[in-house]
Amino acid sequence: MSIDFNKTEGRGYIDRVRELLPEGGKVYIMTFGCQQNEADSERALGIATAMGYIPTDRSDEADLILVNTCAIRAHAEEKALSMLGLFKAIKRKRPEVVIGILGCMVSKKDGIDRIKEDFHYVSFTLDASSLHLLPERVYMALSEGERGFSKPIPRPEIVEGMPICRLGGHKAWVSIMYGCDNFCSYCIVPYVRGRERSRDSREIVAECRSLVESGVREITLLGQNVNSYASDIKFPDLLRLVASIPGDFIIRFMTSHPKDVSDELIEVMAEFSPKIAPYFHLPLQSGSDRILSLMNRTYTKEHFVSVAEKLKSRVPSIALSTDVIIGFPTETEDDFLDTMDVLSRVEFDFVYSFIYSPRVGTVAAKMEEQVPRELSDDRMARLLALGDKVSLKKNQEYVGRVVRVLVDSESKKDGYLSGRTDSGKLVHFPADTNIIGSFAKVRIERANPFNLIGELV
Ligand code: 5AD
Ligand code: SF4
Repeated sequence: MSIDFNKTEGRGYIDRVRELLPEGGKVYIMTFGCQQNEADSERALGIATAMGYIPTDRSDEADLILVNTCAIRAHAEEKALSMLGLFKAIKRKRPEVVIGILGCMVSKKDGIDRIKEDFHYVSFTLDASSLHLLPERVYMALSEGERGFSKPIPRPEIVEGMPICRLGGHKAWVSIMYGCDNFCSYCIVPYVRGRERSRDSREIVAECRSLVESGVREITLLGQNVNSYASDIKFPDLLRLVASIPGDFIIRFMTSHPKDVSDELIEVMAEFSPKIAPYFHLPLQSGSDRILSLMNRTYTKEHFVSVAEKLKSRVPSIALSTDVIIGFPTETEDDFLDTMDVLSRVEFDFVYSFIYSPRVGTVAAKMEEQVPRELSDDRMARLLALGDKVSLKKNQEYVGRVVRVLVDSESKKDGYLSGRTDSGKLVHFPADTNIIGSFAKVRIERANPFNLIGELV
């Protein structure tokens, strides 16, 4: 079930904002966190544009300032709150500016209360599932000077047809599902993004088809746990449908839960490689069965390794990346060594590692034996050293090979461009900017732990 944005009150409020602001205005958005937030920000900008605001990358000249927040770790929240200080100065100079906070931080009670009480210059908050209410919030702020705050609902409906202002050029996000039902014991996501809801496959395929027709070269299907996509069809069938859209483009997807990676999914990846990118983000979190169980991850170390091996054997050019949490409550040296053991055996192309951050409201936050920071820092340093060594080794395998690269942008180095291989590796090579946005053949000459250097063929 979904609602059509054009049939909601949001549509009417867009017109009312336009009447209030016949000259229009400028909108600035700052985005923290994951790709899901990037995608939500494109929708917020789309709605703002429909209300007559033009996007700007300068907050000091904006009439509407939006901050799309993340709550995954305490650090992400602190960064967003510290930015608000900057916007306070803008509001003092120009009191007519409307400031709104969106996203995960204001999808939970403590976050909303904090903004309400300590940030009086903020006009409204909108939780991650209520973007369609943006026109109403802006209208109330402009017309009545009224503040409005989120009241997150656990089972929000999917809203289709919201305007969107895509920022990715030749790359596009397509959300296929929202929310998460896994309740990993450390994670705030199920509380701030609500229960899992999947979009109708016809909506998704139509969106992808029109993106490809408009020249998009890379589509990333997004969801907190894409493998549990469950609408009229399942995820492997959805991938098959998207991969069957004619055109020169590549498909990526994230994120996957190791417990839900089916043989069928792996077969679809093998069948459609490289149209479906030979890349898989498979979050490990911990290699210790005891910690995995406390995390409520519902798989074992050996199951995880077997999934990684299956992926490698069926899609030989595949690159794997993972997430690891260090210092989960009660984590011992032996638990940590189990994590290191998985990293040595699987040889990930890239490891994203995070020090555990207790999140109020989650089960793990109530666990007593928190790991001292010095121990976590020491484990992190050892993990990074191993991760870098393996990344370099994996990258060295590319030296001498000619690979396809989707050219993204100019590189920091003069005369160089940057792009990604089908397997997601960052490549820098000298070339003219007119090939940005297309696929190129590049011979890899040198490997670093985090990128490859090549020459156009
Ligand atoms: N503390 C540290 N890292 C976390 N992640 C999720 N919740 C927490 C937390 N409370 C990490 C997980 C997840 C990634 C997106 O963020 O590794 O996969
Ligand atoms: Fe969080 Fe686990 Fe859901 Fe990922 S699968 S969003 S880690 S609860």
